[in-house]
Amino acid sequence: GTRPAGRTLAERVPASRRPQRTATTRRFLMCRPTHFDVTYAINPWMRPEEGADRARALRQWAALRDLYRRLGHTVEEIPPDPRLPDMVFAANGATVIDGRVLGARFRHPERAAEGPAYLSWFADHGYATTRAPRFINEGEGDYLLAGRTILAGTGFRTEPRAHEEAEEFFGLPVVTLTLVDPAYYHLDTALSVLSDTEIMYYPGAFSEGSRAVLEMLFPGAILAEPEDAAAFGLNALSDGRHVLLPSAAGRLARAVAARGFEPIGVDLSELLKAGGSVKCCTLELRPS
Ligand code: ARG
Repeated sequence: GTRPAGRTLAERVPASRRPQRTATTRRFLMCRPTHFDVTYAINPWMRPEEGADRARALRQWAALRDLYRRLGHTVEEIPPDPRLPDMVFAANGATVIDGRVLGARFRHPERAAEGPAYLSWFADHGYATTRAPRFINEGEGDYLLAGRTILAGTGFRTEPRAHEEAEEFFGLPVVTLTLVDPAYYHLDTALSVLSDTEIMYYPGAFSEGSRAVLEMLFPGAILAEPEDAAAFGLNALSDGRHVLLPSAAGRLARAVAARGFEPIGVDLSELLKAGGSVKCCTLELRPS
């Protein structure tokens, strides 16, 4: 096949000056888009009058799942529920760190039943420590782990007091980041963790104060242009070496390649009609 854009740029940098990138094997939970559709609008990307092509969504989703497996990762599947057209966005179903599961509590009634559906999957699959949350939080949509710090979004979905609940439950520091652009309603649409210490993000999605916090914590971060953000280029998944991101985000692909990662373009254009892409479809199961 074709090489990901930007690969050659990285190769022009002498190998000795490129950081060594090592993938670590991950375990993911995904939900097949058997019942995927756009039937309501809870973010600006959704056009219920246009709907979605489910067969195409299924093919694109299966290609992502198969790619994860080819890269050596484990993918588990939670059964889809016919009443929940957005359930394919597994990232929102929970947050799992050190084998501890913090359930999700959705902002919109259309997705409310996903919270208990994901929690009961965990209870049935040997996860002893699960918590039904008190406050609204949309799982890894708004909670991203960078090293041992939780970067936590708020502004549209997850409420600030949920951040305290997460800090207490996981015993990890939480950095609250405020989102201000409705097109980037979840943290994982505006920021992506590349390694324990490196991120990329779209500054325009954050409040002024949160931009200052990000500059302080991650001075060397990759900053996305509006075009790459709009292509959902930040809804990426890094395993420490490979960075899976929407193929349309060419500049971001070149930027991660220049830092020694291997970008892999993925086409999830059908799922983008609901406002989701690579990361949204992927819930990471971090063991204890
Ligand atoms: N239609 C879904 C919603 O608005 C998309 C969720 C995307 N997931 C994500 N992790 N950003 O809730």
